[in-house]
Amino acid sequence: MLNVNQFRYGGDNFGYLIHGRKDAVVIDGGAFKEIFDFIQYRKLNLLFIANTHGHYDHTSGNSHFIRQSNTHALNYHDLIKERKIELEGENINIYNTPGHTDDSVCFHAGKILISGDTLFNGTIGNCFSGDLDGYYETIMKLMSLPDETIIYAGHDYVKDAMSFAKMIEPDNEDIPVYLRKYNPNHVLSTLADEFRVNPYLRFNEANIIAMLKLRGLPCETNRDRWRSLMTID
Ligand SMILES: [Fe+2]
Repeated sequence: MLNVNQFRYGGDNFGYLIHGRKDAVVIDGGAFKEIFDFIQYRKLNLLFIANTHGHYDHTSGNSHFIRQSNTHALNYHDLIKERKIELEGENINIYNTPGHTDDSVCFHAGKILISGDTLFNGTIGNCFSGDLDGYYETIMKLMSLPDETIIYAGHDYVKDAMSFAKMIEPDNEDIPVYLRKYNPNHVLSTLADEFRVNPYLRFNEANIIAMLKLRGLPCETNRDRWRSLMTID
């Protein structure tokens, strides 16, 4: 079975190490010292490093790993061409998930989804690509994954996300439950948790549609509702 370890760095960023008994892959290795120490301590063989997208806060560790170990970086084009990576006989699926940026990808290993800045615990990323339709398709794709999928995101924005969620849905009783489960030392949620609180996955809830109507925002189709939510801040 593959293991995934979460490493916090730079305040709210997260990087990840996916590993089996011998081999390992680093995703967004900004916490390069801690990850490197872990690799050495466990005597792991680092196959390559990769990124969820090209923003510098996610790629800042790449050059350190390349300098300190005999590894290489797989870029966006390599990743979407491969579509999956085999690590000790198990697959890490790679999803092309444009929206936050055009080069955003998610890594799916077992039950774990490393979602970068595409999907956060409690919210989603900014649409820096400008491609709102593409981002909508991406979110629909991620929503079709199994409910028990564990979301390991690129940042810890949980508190701000829940303030926004509460502003959108003041009576949502799952928000305080979600906040009670929040542990800054290990930040995760399941997709089922996200369906209970994350407004960007809840655009078809009756109270959200009513709120959009009240604000005079388009809410005819699923896509309209989602796009309208993206305009609120
Ligand atoms: Fe980003």
